Amino acid sequence: MSSAPINVADYEALARERMSPGAFDYYAGGAGDEQTLAANLTEFRRVFLRPRVLVDTSGLDCSTELFGARIAMPILVAPTAFHRLAHPDGELATARAAGAAGTIMCVSTVASHPLEAIAAAATGPLWFQLYVYKERALTEQLVRRAEAAGYRALVLTVDTPMLGRRERDARNAFQLPEGITLGNFAADHPLVARPAPDGGHADFQSYIQYFFDGTLTWESIAWLRSITRLPLLVKGVLTAEDARHAVHAGVAGIIVSNHGGRQLDGAVPTLRALPDVADAVGRAVPVLMDGGVRRGVDVLKALSLGADAVLVGRACLWGLAAAGEPGVRHVLDLLRGELELAMALAGTPTLKAVSRSMASIE
Ligand code: FNR
Ligand code: LAC
Repeated sequence: MSSAPINVADYEALARERMSPGAFDYYAGGAGDEQTLAANLTEFRRVFLRPRVLVDTSGLDCSTELFGARIAMPILVAPTAFHRLAHPDGELATARAAGAAGTIMCVSTVASHPLEAIAAAATGPLWFQLYVYKERALTEQLVRRAEAAGYRALVLTVDTPMLGRRERDARNAFQLPEGITLGNFAADHPLVARPAPDGGHADFQSYIQYFFDGTLTWESIAWLRSITRLPLLVKGVLTAEDARHAVHAGVAGIIVSNHGGRQLDGAVPTLRALPDVADAVGRAVPVLMDGGVRRGVDVLKALSLGADAVLVGRACLWGLAAAGEPGVRHVLDLLRGELELAMALAGTPTLKAVSRSMASIE
């Protein structure tokens, strides 16, 4: 790419040029035949907007509030693993960029910097995405550390009892480069120093199978709620049935997600699952979604189908790989600008004005 990037697709092209093929594939890829990965994107092409005209747009405002935090836009940074694969500053750069863009970053359990260092670098609110280790004491420690570092919410990822089979990674025999590891544990921690119980090397898929708890059930929500006062969101709900379970279990929010097509290949695209979940939840708790958001107008479509906000995963990673902190900042600013323009052109200058009747589905 020779000209300056002006949209997320340009950033993806730049990231592809700058990253090693194996690391790029780890970020870009999905599970199995990547049916769900592709469908997350194409589903946005099935939804069209019915714009209303002659609406005064002078009060154009896409700011919103989530769990008491005022944010500049209904676009958050999704939790994604190992930002140092994209840039040496890794999650520190992403956190600064999210703060500068006026939004929330959700930090992954498998971040490549310690959660405390990310909090120290951050200039905006942070949420902590939790994977539950089989060793519950270890999980509890992570929760305590996130609380102590000032994280504002916990996001329990519920779609990963095992890691999806990412065939790109298998073909590339992808391994983390020397020096990039789990930031939340010291290098001599057994989980890092001996990634497989037999002391040998483990790929990420086996790592997760060895150490992450694949036995979680709805009762686990009660356990988590009993050990923290932070608002607890569940990430990875795709059906009305599970949305009702989640509300019943007392969660503070629901994230409609299929993990960016990286877990169950063949799972329903998130934009298609969203209205069912939103209807089942009513206004009981906020409903967020992620998967396939690459444009501000995608955000408006998701909001019209019932989301209170969206999260973006790969878009931020492309910005980070292309240009570090300013790259992530630019990606977030581009998305916000596109969203505001779409809101004005659709005749819905405020989030309150956005409604289901705006969406026309093919
Ligand atoms: C993820 N995702 C993810 N989710 C999570 O809960 N914990 C994690 O550690 C990760 N790691 C991760 C790594 C990479 C490289 C990707 C692409 C994704 C899923 C992520 O939070 C989100 O659901 C998707 O990225 C959303 O789809 P888009 O925006 O990437 O299309
Ligand atoms: C992934 C895990 C880490 O999607 O969530 O790679």
